[in-house]
Amino acid sequence: MKKVGVALLGLGTVGGGTYRILKNNHDSIKKNYGVDLEIRHILEKDMTKARALGVDESIISCDINNIINDAEIKIVAEFFGGIEPAKSFLIKCLLAGKSIVTANKEMFSKYWHELEAAAKKGKAGLYFEASCVGGVPIIRTLTQSMQGNNILSLMGIVNGTTNFILSKMADEGLAYADVLKEAQSLGYAEADPTADVEGFDSMYKLSILSSLAFHTKVPLDKIYREGISKIDKIDIEYGKKFGYALKLLAIGKKQGGKIEARVHPAFVPSSHPLAAVKGSFNAVHIIGDNVGDIMLYGRGAGDLPTGSAIVSDIVFAARQDKHRHATFNNLTDKVSDRGFSKDFCCEYYIRMTVKDVPGVIAAISSAFAKNSISINSIQQQVQGQNASIIFMIHKTGERGIKKALEAIRVINTVESIDALIRVEE
Ligand code: NDP
Ligand code: HSE
Repeated sequence: MKKVGVALLGLGTVGGGTYRILKNNHDSIKKNYGVDLEIRHILEKDMTKARALGVDESIISCDINNIINDAEIKIVAEFFGGIEPAKSFLIKCLLAGKSIVTANKEMFSKYWHELEAAAKKGKAGLYFEASCVGGVPIIRTLTQSMQGNNILSLMGIVNGTTNFILSKMADEGLAYADVLKEAQSLGYAEADPTADVEGFDSMYKLSILSSLAFHTKVPLDKIYREGISKIDKIDIEYGKKFGYALKLLAIGKKQGGKIEARVHPAFVPSSHPLAAVKGSFNAVHIIGDNVGDIMLYGRGAGDLPTGSAIVSDIVFAARQDKHRHATFNNLTDKVSDRGFSKDFCCEYYIRMTVKDVPGVIAAISSAFAKNSISINSIQQQVQGQNASIIFMIHKTGERGIKKALEAIRVINTVESIDALIRVEE
């Protein structure tokens, strides 16, 4: 029986879940997968967390050298979060020949190339299933199960906090600020919710997922990002009337040899499988040229769901004789613009407030026409001296839309452009 020493960095939410699964499932993992996993050391500052889990306190410290110097430890799983000291500790472990498993999407998406260089030097493995979409086995699907396909697109709800907020706004007609408070009190959103609500968390995940899907490094600076903090509940309500659900989407597509990667709120038709993904659940919809559509759905966060992905990586790493690395050039995060699309095409929902006077729609339509933009439908609602107008725009380029809106903004009968929401079919 192969005995494999494991170390854990952190005993917070994910570390605690991982510890519990490793303890509870120790015997079944041994029986079913032929590896006897032994937790030999844990780094954690807060002893109360260790006591609550019943961890033997003699294996806890804050010193990475206790792990580096233990030759029996072959796998180190990290759930500190943040960049440092996580990154330096993991590089040290890799150079010492210990494989790493991480849930830390921010650190991983920014420093994957450095970690991979260290992994190759140390002949160690790099595993990161838990970094994207928590317990949903998306990384393994992309790396182990799609070899017979060129992936054409992946589109996902990869952040539970924002999906919880948008679902509540839609289902209960609540305002963004009120639902955010509830998400914070339930522990979904952090005290500083910026990474979730401004789309950074989704962008980190999309960088990792699209690099794997398209076998090309997709660094963060190649991803367009927009969050949900400016979403008004009125647009969710209008969207519903038009048959759409609003989601924060992470989208990667490869068309004509060029990759486009973007994170932004988008309307999807209520019949689309992603429209049914509610609350803190996540899902990723993939299209392969041979398999067609695939959708993976499940919990993208939480102690046991994320611990499930971590333990799956630990068992996987423990059973490898030789670790494999990225299929693409991963030496740097400085990648030329050449392989990336500089524009992208969508349908659009645009809401604006105008003076209710003759000629206003003609002036706006003319600005759209000058930019070769075709209007699908117009809905107007008069409110006193003003009118609220919603334009649904046929598929067109983002650049053209932005140019048209610059021209529309300065028409003296246009009071404000209140919302621009992309529509994905
Ligand atoms: P927590 O804050 O709950 O846990 C982190 C733990 O690590 C804390 O107990 C912290 O102690 C400890 N720690 C941090 N730095 C050190 C250090 N230098 N030495 C010793 N102990 C340290 O975070 P989570 O478990 O929620 O998240 C961990 C990682 O997993 C993050 O990268 C996150 O993005 C990722 N992730 C989280 C998910 C979730 O559902 N929570 C889902 C998927 C990924 P202290 O609190 O005292 O600082
Ligand atoms: N903050 C993240 C979310 C945690 O809300 O989905 C999982 O990565």
